Amino acid sequence: MNSGANSLYPLLRPDTVAVIGAAREPHKIGHQVVRNLIEGGFPKERIFPINPYAEHILGLKCYPSILDVPTKVDLSVIVVPARIVPKVLEECGKKGVKAVAIISSGFKEVGNVELEEKIVRIAKKYNMRLLGPNIVGVCDTIKSVNASFCQSLPLRGNIAFITQSGALGIALVGWTKMHNIGLSDLVSLGNMADVDQSDLIEFFGDDPETKVITLYIEGVKDGRKFFETCKRVTVKKPILAIKAGKAERTVRAIKSHTGSLAGSDSAYNAVFKQSGVIRVPTFPDLFDWAVALSISPKPLNNNIVILTNGGGAGVMATDAAEEYGISLLEMPKDLADRIRKYMPPFGSVLNPIDLTGMAGREWYRESLKELLRDSRVGGVIVLYCHTAITTPREIADAIIEAVRTVGYCKPVVVSLIGGEEVIDECERLISNKIPCYDSPEKAMAAMGAIIKYYSDREKILSRKYPRLNVDYEKAKGIIEKALKRGHKILSPREAAEIVEAYGIPVVSKKLAKSKEEAIRFAEEIGYPLVMEVDSPHILHKTDVGGIIVGVNSREEVGKAYDDIIRNVSEKAPEAHINGIIVRKMAEKGREVILGMHRDPIFGPVIMFGSGGILVELLKDVSFRVVPLSVEDAHEIIEETKAYKMLKGYRGEKEADIDCVIDAVLRLLKVVEDFSEIEDVDINPFFVYDKGKGGIAVDVKIILS
Ligand code: ACO
Repeated sequence: MNSGANSLYPLLRPDTVAVIGAAREPHKIGHQVVRNLIEGGFPKERIFPINPYAEHILGLKCYPSILDVPTKVDLSVIVVPARIVPKVLEECGKKGVKAVAIISSGFKEVGNVELEEKIVRIAKKYNMRLLGPNIVGVCDTIKSVNASFCQSLPLRGNIAFITQSGALGIALVGWTKMHNIGLSDLVSLGNMADVDQSDLIEFFGDDPETKVITLYIEGVKDGRKFFETCKRVTVKKPILAIKAGKAERTVRAIKSHTGSLAGSDSAYNAVFKQSGVIRVPTFPDLFDWAVALSISPKPLNNNIVILTNGGGAGVMATDAAEEYGISLLEMPKDLADRIRKYMPPFGSVLNPIDLTGMAGREWYRESLKELLRDSRVGGVIVLYCHTAITTPREIADAIIEAVRTVGYCKPVVVSLIGGEEVIDECERLISNKIPCYDSPEKAMAAMGAIIKYYSDREKILSRKYPRLNVDYEKAKGIIEKALKRGHKILSPREAAEIVEAYGIPVVSKKLAKSKEEAIRFAEEIGYPLVMEVDSPHILHKTDVGGIIVGVNSREEVGKAYDDIIRNVSEKAPEAHINGIIVRKMAEKGREVILGMHRDPIFGPVIMFGSGGILVELLKDVSFRVVPLSVEDAHEIIEETKAYKMLKGYRGEKEADIDCVIDAVLRLLKVVEDFSEIEDVDINPFFVYDKGKGGIAVDVKIILS
């Protein structure tokens, strides 16, 4: 199958469309698709209804088979029962059709995997792209193609909407129309037997008619392809996504801390962050933000100024700014002095700038012009509470005039707050490419999306990937030996040796096979000591009394040896004991956890967070998918509360954060090099004061 983005052109921008299963009765879907094509404005002479039992449908000539159509066909919409689909698909292939959209249900979604595989084979054989099956269809407002059973074409616009839910797609056509939002395309994905989200993102990424790509996602099939495609496309244009289904996987037996904390939603979150996709909570936000991004220029910097005629609206916008992490400009004196001219003495030139309820057209226009001209202002939020002394029209005019006079050099996002009187002016502002909303929070949220998009984009463009020296052969030898023995859980010693070979410092350990040997090692290493069981069958040693800390003398070593053997024999009688590990008790540092879990969709997910025995209770963790850049390694740490602790909480000195970043990147290299590794937990990793490094105390590695 030709899988390049160009291969989707006949599907999304067709010149000729056939409808196979163009039914005669108006209530049937096949009939409605033909009607939609005609009513959507697609040229009638380029629509070809196919039905062996009909002569004409809706005034168009009907053909018994696609093979009878006299001209080339770009897109065939298939609306016959599932069992007939392979036959008509073969005919499409023979005719040289380049793309098919299969509305019919009755495939994989109902367990009919074989039939779905059959249609994929046919499409592949003829090099046809296949959208669906089990879809609503596809709407392209650019060429007026309503090849769907949506009630009508969406309004023309420049936002592409890709949906994994057909019903939601249909419903949103009406919703977007009600809110005057235009789309370039609406594509229903269905079972994604061939065309998936990534293919469409790639196409819309290059499509000059599309400015913003929006998605409703339930799940992606090929996580790596999705991640790589999004990374490539977000540097060209924004991608906004709603991801439904936050519930974590529950069926898998979970052995490591990282595995139990790394649900699939964490992996999606990580992928969105690393690829610059903006995750959106609700449908109204999805389109509010998409509109803002589709018409606004880039912010000059991240410092925003709020201009208002009402103190309350300003406070609400300020709160929202904090929620979205938007910084408000500390007003420079010279700028404040210039703006003071456009307000009464009791106005305020702090940010929010309060022009007061007396503000009319001139004050709004002139102060906005000052803000637009000043390069220290990254963008402006203009708020207007409707009053009796002016009209929304005058204020909208003032904003448009200021932008026209100075130039649209930074985002200006407006909120007109009032009743029906403001609706028309809000729409007029939007049609003048100035986003406008009915509340200060919505305006600030949209500004937040604009700032986030451009700053994420810059981060993606400037990412650096680390180069590290590691002892690959040593780690490989340990893993191969364990696999030969058939052991999935590496012993603590093996696990420690692997991460040590990759440059992560680990507390050194000796394995004693007898009490006497334990005492001899203890005397060599020196006190205080930790003694712990070495068994491939025990992952959480504390749970079975397999670890004793603070061992201080020969006598205590002997006693600890006996106690551990007895505890483990009682609590885990089936576990094989290799011996007892004797190790120096590391000086306590600040406890963090580093881990990796292999996600079935996205591959290795790296975790960092607060460590120790309370990790699962605290859930103070953050995730990134592989590969991580140096910047990602910084961010995964900075997102957690553990970071505040490492920075020095309540008078504590700053910890050696660089050594944690280095350990994260080295762990990343371990899991990149060994696909056999399923899970890793390094917990606790003790971090000492700045310049003094850190050390892994306990390492667990599970092989797949
Ligand atoms: N070539 C062309 N047309 C043919 C052929 C053929 N080889 N054989 C039969 N036809 C004609 C039929 O004669 C019929 O036309 P007619 O009514 O004029 O006689 C027409 O094709 C349709 O066939 P029907 O057997 O009448 O099938 P029907 O229209 O009842 O259903 C459909 C077909 C809509 C594809 C159905 O099988 C189906 O899958 N429905 C579900 C669609 C759906 O919901 N998709 C997912 C959307 S996503 C969401 O959740 C909303």
